[in-house]
Amino acid sequence: MSDRVLLITGASSGIGAATAHAAAEAGWRLVLAARSEARLEELVHELGGPDRALAVRCDVTSWPDQQAMAEAALRRFGRIDAAFANAGIGGSPGGFTGADPEHWRAMILTNVLGVGLTLRATLDALKTSKGHVLLTSSVAGRRTLAGSMYGASKWAVTAIGYNLREELRGSGVRVTLIEPGMVDTAFFDQPKPDALRPEDVAHIVIFALGQPDHVDLHELVVLPTPKAGA
Ligand SMILES: NC(=O)c1ccc[n+]([C@@H]2O[C@H](COP(=O)([O-])OP(=O)(O)OC[C@H]3O[C@@H](n4cnc5c(N)ncnc54)[C@H](OP(=O)(O)O)[C@@H]3O)[C@@H](O)[C@H]2O)c1
Repeated sequence: MSDRVLLITGASSGIGAATAHAAAEAGWRLVLAARSEARLEELVHELGGPDRALAVRCDVTSWPDQQAMAEAALRRFGRIDAAFANAGIGGSPGGFTGADPEHWRAMILTNVLGVGLTLRATLDALKTSKGHVLLTSSVAGRRTLAGSMYGASKWAVTAIGYNLREELRGSGVRVTLIEPGMVDTAFFDQPKPDALRPEDVAHIVIFALGQPDHVDLHELVVLPTPKAGA
């Protein structure tokens, strides 16, 4: 088993939980962060118990929570080799004409500030380990989506990835943006049978994490294969 430690925000479901499973299979020890503590504790059990995984209740919009998350990781495992800033929430309908402004506030605090706070809390440890940052942006952070504040929040995550890479130039820390199209997760109220599965994105994350130190994988756009006639 490897000693390497991967911290995942938004680990309680969807892409984050699938990545936790795939990373555990690949030998990583895990720090699992989200607000749903009971679900995280179940995951710890599924992934091999407290020697292999740690559950941390963390609201990514809270700086004290994020600091406590990083401290708990270092106390338990002594190092952080990779951080996957993945927690995020979707938009609400109505566009710039009619969407709920309070939902915008929660979404931007989660999707943008939350990513920044995860970086702020973990980068010292990642510089020490010459580690790897992965950020869940979206294809919505690369394309025009009419009326989408969600898309704007993901453009911000893409920009964080680009700007962080420049800040870290020469530090040995690598930055990879994960940019999925639609994934069938609790992100949506209805099942999305034609979408990617969370395991598909997890495999992409493991692929990125598995690159040798001299390979700097900047970003990965991954979409469901179009159906015939689409
Ligand atoms: N599904 C898609 O089509 C799709 C496509 C591209 C990108 N993405 C992005 O992928 C990421 C993961 O989404 P998903 O599809 O896997 O959806 P999901 O199943 O709903 O997972 C979202 C995760 O984020 C966590 N989260 C939300 N708000 C949080 C907060 N304030 N503090 C801490 N954790 C929080 C949730 O945990 P708790 O509720 O337990 O806190 C959950 O673990 C998001 O950033 C999303 O924008 C999704």
